[in-house]
Amino acid sequence: MALPSCLPMAGSDDVVPQCPVGPMLPRDATALRGEPAAARSEGLAADDAGRQGLKTNDGLMLERAIPSSEHYFEALASMVGNTPLLRVPSPADSRARLLVKLEGHNPTGSVKDRACVAMLKALRKDPSWDWSKTLLDASSGNMGCSLAYFGKAMGVNVRIVSSRKLTAEKRRFMEYFGASVESVGDFTIEGNQYCRKMAESEPENWYFLDQLHNSENPMAHVRSTGPEILSEVPDVAAVIGSIGSGGTLLGVGSYLKQANEKIKVFAVEAASGTRLPGTAALVDGDYRTPFIEQGFGRNIFDLSIQVSEAEAVGVARLLTPAGLFGGLQTCAVIAAAWQLIESRGLSGNVVAISGDTGWKNMDSLTQKVLHCQD
Ligand SMILES: Cc1ncc(COP(=O)(O)O)c(C=O)c1O
Repeated sequence: MALPSCLPMAGSDDVVPQCPVGPMLPRDATALRGEPAAARSEGLAADDAGRQGLKTNDGLMLERAIPSSEHYFEALASMVGNTPLLRVPSPADSRARLLVKLEGHNPTGSVKDRACVAMLKALRKDPSWDWSKTLLDASSGNMGCSLAYFGKAMGVNVRIVSSRKLTAEKRRFMEYFGASVESVGDFTIEGNQYCRKMAESEPENWYFLDQLHNSENPMAHVRSTGPEILSEVPDVAAVIGSIGSGGTLLGVGSYLKQANEKIKVFAVEAASGTRLPGTAALVDGDYRTPFIEQGFGRNIFDLSIQVSEAEAVGVARLLTPAGLFGGLQTCAVIAAAWQLIESRGLSGNVVAISGDTGWKNMDSLTQKVLHCQD
């Protein structure tokens, strides 16, 4: 494969600017609607004047309104999405312009914040939801981080069931935000089945979000990621993304194909023997979620490409000078984009979806990219 030709110039239009969307705490933060009693009273104390608030160790009384979990949740949820696009090099002599959508710019550093917030917003309309239940889901890592973070902001307890391959960084993040983490099996589907049994046997204790089957997962991308891509790159020719639960690519692909059926959608899978975060190894028998089945069955995915870990690591080495700081999923998606541009003549504006930032992947990036230079 010919190596990419050029790196973007500072000050050129290669980095597509975005309007920053900052956290906005509502001015009138006094209403405490529908929150659990635990969240309302957590950390609150009364001072000599009878004022209620959060007391610091130095005796400083903080405003009563700030512990409102509803407002924290809404403020943090408003920071999800509108992620930037970064232009990275395309293979030399191609007629493609490769743009990477950096989902690592979401609050917990991954694309999963979008589906997480959508599922949590929908939960409030579910009659079986009650604030005393613990939120439960199986995750390979990033969804668990999102749930720990947004669940904390909502004021509810969270339990994440992950596989034994969960990285120490992701586990620490979940625990830092108060989630309890349990390891079950080697694949997310094993954890998913385990969660289902827990929720069935003790429905009064658990609220199982079930990201692998919850339609809010792809819908989050029909509502946000797809429209963002089309408004930023109106003449987008193709989009490339990995399939974990399949929610991201099914949602983005459905939206884009409905807008223009000529837009191509390419799915990235892990090659046999390869484990890449957020990227199913269907060839090795990974669970085909309903979203993956729909993507292929409804012809939303035009083609799927398999990428090996060695190819992903190669991309990471080449693209650090371009400032690319994603996990190996990001590198795999770019490797697939280069394959498509070079061997299938893909041209025009191509958007690759980077699922996460490098921060929660530093151990594996350091070990695989820096220290194994073979
Ligand atoms: C880094 C990363 N990228 C992409 C994905 C794929 O997202 P989806 O589950 O929507 O297919 C995931 C899912 O875990 C992920 O962790």
